[in-house]
Amino acid sequence: MSTDKLFLKTLKGELTDRVPFWFMRQAGRYLPEYMALRAEAGSFLDLCYNPDFATEVTLQPIRRFSMDAAILFSDILVIPHALGQDLAFIAGEGPVLTPVDNLEKLEALSMDRLHDHLNPVYQTVSNLSEKLPDNVALIGFAGAPWTVATYMVGGRGSKDQADTRLMAYQDRETFSKLIDLLVHSTSEYLIKQVDHGAEALQIFDSWSGSLPADEFIAWCVEPMQMIVENIRAVHPDIPIIGFPKGAGAKIKNYINKTKVDAVSIDTSMSTSWVRDSIQPLCTVQGNLDPLLLVGGGAPLEKAVYHILDHLKDGAHVFNLGHGIIPQTPPENVKLVSDIILNYRR
Ligand code: CP3
Repeated sequence: MSTDKLFLKTLKGELTDRVPFWFMRQAGRYLPEYMALRAEAGSFLDLCYNPDFATEVTLQPIRRFSMDAAILFSDILVIPHALGQDLAFIAGEGPVLTPVDNLEKLEALSMDRLHDHLNPVYQTVSNLSEKLPDNVALIGFAGAPWTVATYMVGGRGSKDQADTRLMAYQDRETFSKLIDLLVHSTSEYLIKQVDHGAEALQIFDSWSGSLPADEFIAWCVEPMQMIVENIRAVHPDIPIIGFPKGAGAKIKNYINKTKVDAVSIDTSMSTSWVRDSIQPLCTVQGNLDPLLLVGGGAPLEKAVYHILDHLKDGAHVFNLGHGIIPQTPPENVKLVSDIILNYRR
């Protein structure tokens, strides 16, 4: 692993002169060059499974904004797809899957074709590790079991993940089998990404905030702990970032139990609390409100400096608190990138 990349040094706790940065969903619909390539590919999933297109889409934001890390272009839902669940992305609606909400449907899924199905993604990772500039690190990723399960059980995105929470209460045994399957397949998937050249991994638990404390331990903390252990058994030094969005103060226990190298911080957390309570535990990444990036102007600049100033005495990767919104003007992303590139601790 190259050790001169600012992003990788920071994940290992080092304080570099300049704070490294990247943005969740930095490749996507706010970029006209992304829209052009998606139209050429046919659909979003065709983009994900075509290594040439996926490689190009990953590189697009790096060319414009010089981020310190590129994130593999794919989606968290390629895992259920690879396990045999139907998946389509419908314009204006998002992902639609045939719900897996009982034991029979769960038993119809299988790991047999996992790596065959995901081979184009591994090919994209290999391409990227050749093509990225020397100073840019490559992030592989997957969804965390709970968040992926909410789409598998509900069949689509939802505000409160009620179908999945209910299944966890009413049929704990089946739900637990689903989570085990996801722990196993996700671990294998991430290990392969590292085999092919990923230099850090981020695991997205976007909906962990909908769970009560005990359930958060059972479905977010424990599965994540197992995934981290499985990956480190093969790749002991790979930096791992967790993103338990909405976890609030429960994030401290999450860090201590899972032993991640870094956590991504959502917009709800104050930077002074993060500085005092989280930065002593691990590297933090975050946490600009993606809506400020839409709005631009003085409020955006003020918030960027606020975050940089508050977190500069500990290990910090500048990022958003959640993904870039499609309405974001690319010039606002440029403005923030330039501020960070010129800022010194
Ligand atoms: O640039 C990057 O960050 C890398 C690519 C990436 C995508 N999805 C591409 C994408 C990553 C890391 C993801 C993660 C992802 N996917 C999450 C976790 C992070 C988060 O945002 O909470 C989740 C929950 C998903 C599932 C998903 N994928 C949804 C709910 C949707 C529809 C909503 C939407 O934004 O359209 C997607 C589609 C998706 N994934 C798009 C992109 C660029 C938009 C597809 C398109 O219309 O082109």
